[in-house]
Amino acid sequence: MQHLIAPSLLSANFLNLSTDIEMINNSLADWFHIDVMDGHFVPNISFGFSIISQIKSQAKKPLDVHLMISEPDRYLQNFKDCGADILTVHYEVCTHLHRTINQVKKLGMKAGVVINPHINVALLEDILPEADLVLLMSVNPGFGGQSFIESTYNRISTLKELIEKTNSKALIEVDGGVDINNASKLVSAGANVLVSGSSVFKSDNPAAYIEKLKNSKP
Ligand code: DX5
Ligand code: ZN
Repeated sequence: MQHLIAPSLLSANFLNLSTDIEMINNSLADWFHIDVMDGHFVPNISFGFSIISQIKSQAKKPLDVHLMISEPDRYLQNFKDCGADILTVHYEVCTHLHRTINQVKKLGMKAGVVINPHINVALLEDILPEADLVLLMSVNPGFGGQSFIESTYNRISTLKELIEKTNSKALIEVDGGVDINNASKLVSAGANVLVSGSSVFKSDNPAAYIEKLKNSKP
């Protein structure tokens, strides 16, 4: 499959969100990446249900909602109700990850597991057959605009082998510090979905930047 592009709205202009949503609608982007932060699991607070509902009302592509929150189980139904199509939860906060993943799917959303850069990819082996995607953090979560962590390439390759070994259908998504300088190498390593925030929105022409990410060849 050709890789997918998921621009992160965390770096959009919140005073003019509608313009940025329309830009993504009309671009080669595949998903909207929506970062939810609670100020507890990560040292930053972003936005919640009402903004996501409003984004949903204008977005013409799936909402990929990345929960950086401590107790995701409490809010799965709320995220379904405000329009999430894909919901990713962090491995580090899910004591009963198998149950959480299956609950997300039961609610009619695609379910993903996220791991921070220090978590060994091998720990995912038993959950891979249940997961629709795995999101590998390539920065420590909480902020846009951080530097890409180079060990991510090896982590992607290891995860890809594990996905094949377990006959999992999970997509590999990468989030943090992704730009046109590392996109090709990430796709070569096996990434299926590239999240990119600050690089897209800081560029002079975000739609053209998305096109370059989409056209990055392995
Ligand atoms: C970081 C978020 C990312 C962030 C990526 O915690 O999960 O999705 O928006 O931003 P960039 O592309 O600027 O690293
Ligand atoms: Zn994210």
